Amino acid sequence: MSNTEIIRDVVVIGAGAAGLTAANDLRTAGLSVAVLEARDRVGGRLWTDTIEGAMLEIGGQWISPDQQALIDTVAELGLSTFSRYREGDSVYVGPDGTVTRFTGDVFPVAPATAAEIERITADLDAMVAEIDPDRPWAHPKAAEWDTISWDGWLRSQTDDDEAVRNLAFATGSAMLTKPTHAFSLLQSLLMAASAGSYSHLVDADFILDKRVVGGLQQVPLLLAERLGEDVLLDQPVRSLTWDQDGVVAEAASVTVRARRAILALAPVLYPRISFVPPLPRLQQQMHQHISMGFVIKVHAVYDRPFWREQGLSGTAFSPYELSHEAYDNTNHGDERGTLVGFVSDRNADDLFRLDAAERKERILESLSHYYGPEAKSPIVYYESDWGSEEWTRGAYAASFDLGGLHRYGADLRTTIGPIHLACSDMAGAGYQHVDGAIRMGHRAASEILEELR
Ligand code: FDA
Repeated sequence: MSNTEIIRDVVVIGAGAAGLTAANDLRTAGLSVAVLEARDRVGGRLWTDTIEGAMLEIGGQWISPDQQALIDTVAELGLSTFSRYREGDSVYVGPDGTVTRFTGDVFPVAPATAAEIERITADLDAMVAEIDPDRPWAHPKAAEWDTISWDGWLRSQTDDDEAVRNLAFATGSAMLTKPTHAFSLLQSLLMAASAGSYSHLVDADFILDKRVVGGLQQVPLLLAERLGEDVLLDQPVRSLTWDQDGVVAEAASVTVRARRAILALAPVLYPRISFVPPLPRLQQQMHQHISMGFVIKVHAVYDRPFWREQGLSGTAFSPYELSHEAYDNTNHGDERGTLVGFVSDRNADDLFRLDAAERKERILESLSHYYGPEAKSPIVYYESDWGSEEWTRGAYAASFDLGGLHRYGADLRTTIGPIHLACSDMAGAGYQHVDGAIRMGHRAASEILEELR
């Protein structure tokens, strides 16, 4: 069966936050667009669904106060937000399993360990302040900082293992979701610089500040609504033929001829598309050095937020627990209580070697260390597993392997002939976040508008 052929100014490949932002900007400026999306829904890594009667945000959900591009889009779309519940004590589980309550963002560790964490945090904040999140490779020490692992650098700063584990956590398990030996100090500094400072990343009240009432997927849903029939679902793009004059994108049942294309998907997925001619050698090499992190987002819904009755905020951390962090994730206006926990990188690998029942038991056991035995009996339980999603292949996002950032970073966003690039995984500010996706969407659209005007 031959494909339906359509002609547009721009074809956007991928209907996530980045692609839909770009498509709306182009449409507003008077260009015609078609957005081709592989899945049967829009939103990509933003996905709100109802599981056994509970509304769950399976992908991205939180907004922090520095994420101005996302804040502006949320406001422009008329969506309202609410704060994460944070009254009461947080919980920390130490190396011997001792559970300690605390307030603020300083973990209740031994004074000597706390002093080491404070000292190295100050050093990290100073290093991050020197990094331009849009050009981390331009720092004079970029090569040096990109060729030592995050773990290796931390261990060169202190002999205190608990300090190392707690410092590693902010950009490791909690953000890049890769083992800390697998990415560099520079990659870690970029992650922190993209959020303003290293201290911001350890401040849960900052980084996990607000959610959208009804779920963050409304952002792509409403952006797609404005584009109407120009968003085509179930259209994985299999080949992109390109020259200086334009592109031909072939999807499942549609072929789009356009003057420009925007690849609005994670760079790890570019090799799923057959480029004719192939992408330049540099890009073909570079994309092999970018990989997805991996984290399981665990949702446990209870008949009430029972931890609040114990004076707990729901905020819980431990570098020694299977679920290294967990929070109160109760929906706005919901009488039930929801906890969300995260299991990252090697812990996630290990859990997926177990069957579903054993996995659930192990995760709920870990949550019960924070909140007590009641945590073992949720009425709804769900694991977001983005690693098995063909069109994402991990979570939260993609980053360079050790040494890749200074070697290739400067070319990550470079336009290739008529092909422009947009994705949260190549952002500076807002890197690996929806804010970064929106920023990259605006950027790709304005590049094209400049070229075509
Ligand atoms: P995204 O991956 O969303 O979109 C790309 C689209 O391209 C997808 O729809 C995909 O199907 C499509 N596609 C791929 N290949 C294709 C092909 N060949 N043809 C056609 N279409 C194709 N962020 C945040 O700000 N706050 C948070 O709390 C979180 N938390 C979080 C939790 C979890 C579990 C995940 C997985 C992610 C987050 N994030 C987050 C990250 C955030 O969700 C993410 O950075 C952005 O949604 C990415 O948006 P993009 O548009 O860049 O890519």
